[in-house]
Amino acid sequence: MQEASVQAIIDTDPGLDDAIAILYALRSPAFEVLGLTTVAGNIGLAATTRNAGRLLALARRTDIPVVAGASRPLKRPALDVASHIHGVDGVGGVPLPQAAAPALDGAVDWMAEQLANAPDKTVDLLALGPLTNVATLVERHPSQAVRIRRLIAMGGAVETHGNVSARSEFNFAADPEAVETVLGADLPLAIVPLDVTRQVRATHDYATQLATAARPEARKAGELIKAYFKGTDGRESRPLHDPCVMLLAAVPQLFKVERRHLDVCLTGGDSGALVSGTHAVDVAMGVDEGLALAQLSNVLVGSRNQPDRDQGR
Ligand code: RIB
Ligand code: CA
Repeated sequence: MQEASVQAIIDTDPGLDDAIAILYALRSPAFEVLGLTTVAGNIGLAATTRNAGRLLALARRTDIPVVAGASRPLKRPALDVASHIHGVDGVGGVPLPQAAAPALDGAVDWMAEQLANAPDKTVDLLALGPLTNVATLVERHPSQAVRIRRLIAMGGAVETHGNVSARSEFNFAADPEAVETVLGADLPLAIVPLDVTRQVRATHDYATQLATAARPEARKAGELIKAYFKGTDGRESRPLHDPCVMLLAAVPQLFKVERRHLDVCLTGGDSGALVSGTHAVDVAMGVDEGLALAQLSNVLVGSRNQPDRDQGR
C-alpha cells in the first residue's frame, strides 16, 4: 500500500514489539528516522538504549543516532520491568550485532534541537514507551514541543481491559503524570490504545514467513516474534502493539480514528487509565488487521524492486 512520507523521532523502550516497529520504519522508504530516543519501560534504560543501537547496527543504519533519555518516571517509582515478556535483555535473547557507537545522553535536549532545526510542523514524534521523555520536552522546551507535526503514542485502553490493571495499560501506567502533562499540552496527539493493537496479531505462521525471508531485517523480525511467544502459555498469536504506531503514521487509511475527550487517572489501582475528560485526542479504535499485517510483512520482506536501505540517505 502507498505510504505517506514520515520524518520521525522514535521514542522507545525496546522491547520486542518496539524492535519490530523500529525495523519496519528503518526498512520503509516512507520513513526518515532522525533518531531513536530511549526511555526505561519494558526493561531498564541501559538495556533499552543498548537494544536501540543493536537494531540500527542490524539494519546497517548506524548513521542514525541513539540518545538515552529518562531512566525513571517523572514522579513515581517505576513499574516492575516486563522481563517475563521481553526477556532479561529486552529482546527475548534474540542475537543482535553490537551497537556501532556508544549512545549519546540527553534525549530531551536532543529532541528540542531537532525540532528547532527542522521546518515547523515537519517532524513526527512516535512514542512507543512511557511518555516521560515527551512530557519533559513539553515542560523544558515548550516552544520546541509545539513544532511537532504529530505525536502518535501507543498507550491506554479505552473500551477494552488494561494489561496492568483492569483499566490501565503499561506505557501510561508507567508514568501517569507524564500522560497528564502531554494531554494538557494540546499537541496534535493521536493515541493507539490496546483496543486496536490487540486486533493486530502475529501467529506462529506469520513469524515463520518472516523468519524465512531473504532480508535480514525480516528474518530478525520473525525471530523477535517467535521470542515474543516465549513465556506465554501456548498462545496462538501475539499482539503487535508498537508496530501499529508506525502503520498509523505511514498508512492511516488502515485505521478508524475517532475524536475522544480524555483525561488520565492519577490515583489508586487504575492510575494511568484513560477516563472521559476535557482533552481532545484522536484515538485509533479500528483497524483492518489483514491489511495491517500484510503491510508490515511486505515492507520488512521488501519487494524485488525495492532498493536496499543502506547507510545514509
Ligand atoms: O502495553 C504495551 C506497551 O507496553 C508496548 O509499547 C510494549 O512495548 C510496552 O512498552
Ligand atoms: Ca514499547
